[in-house]
Amino acid sequence: MVGSPSGKLSGKSARDGAPHRVVAALQDFCSHRWRLDRINPILVSGHLAWSTHNGEYLNDLLPLPYDEEALRLIEGHIHEVQDCLGRPYLIENPSSYVGFRTSGMSEVEFLCELVRRTGCRLLCDVSNIYLSAHNMGYDAHTYIDGLPAHAISELHLGGYTPEEDAAKPGAELLIDTHAVPIAEPAWDLYAYALRRFGPKPVLIEWDNDLPPLARLLGEAVRAHQIAAGIIVAEARCAASR
Ligand SMILES: [Fe+2]
Repeated sequence: MVGSPSGKLSGKSARDGAPHRVVAALQDFCSHRWRLDRINPILVSGHLAWSTHNGEYLNDLLPLPYDEEALRLIEGHIHEVQDCLGRPYLIENPSSYVGFRTSGMSEVEFLCELVRRTGCRLLCDVSNIYLSAHNMGYDAHTYIDGLPAHAISELHLGGYTPEEDAAKPGAELLIDTHAVPIAEPAWDLYAYALRRFGPKPVLIEWDNDLPPLARLLGEAVRAHQIAAGIIVAEARCAASR
């Protein structure tokens, strides 16, 4: 469960027409086929986010407007990446703190349309769904219900940290820190996602303020036990019919 094989590419939304530097580097890497064959990644993923503007690279995963223009842009980049890799690319739902008033569709509708247009797959970060739902004021279960189950290829779980929302004094903003244990509501949502999507590879994301290895492995064991419990319960249910 810890360290499931996946590459990372983030920021696919350059608007200046030049090939995104990450896509260009990937194209160069994959121009020598033996390199890709040697690594042979099972899963390669990137966030639904942008990080470049006018040639500047920002080391953050910044939010997109969910509209037709952004869809066409991201669709093109996914095709470029998939053409390089020769396999479906996984798009990961981001952690959200702000949105665009101009968005004409929800994040789920945007992801569904990307899957339909490109054949890409989805990496469902369950903790991101929980904290984004809290921060943006939507229902996390409805979000999961709206995702195309056939396209879900990996799950993520990570810890988040509550902070006071500077824009709304007294309100709490959940920050995707990957620095603390996974919270109980995220574990509950993980179980809900497993019942909807079935068993999937799971990655525990804990990359700041690292705990002792035993603590980290304990999170992975819990993720495995929850998945195993659901598989057993569903098998018993099927056998009793
Ligand atoms: Fe993630």
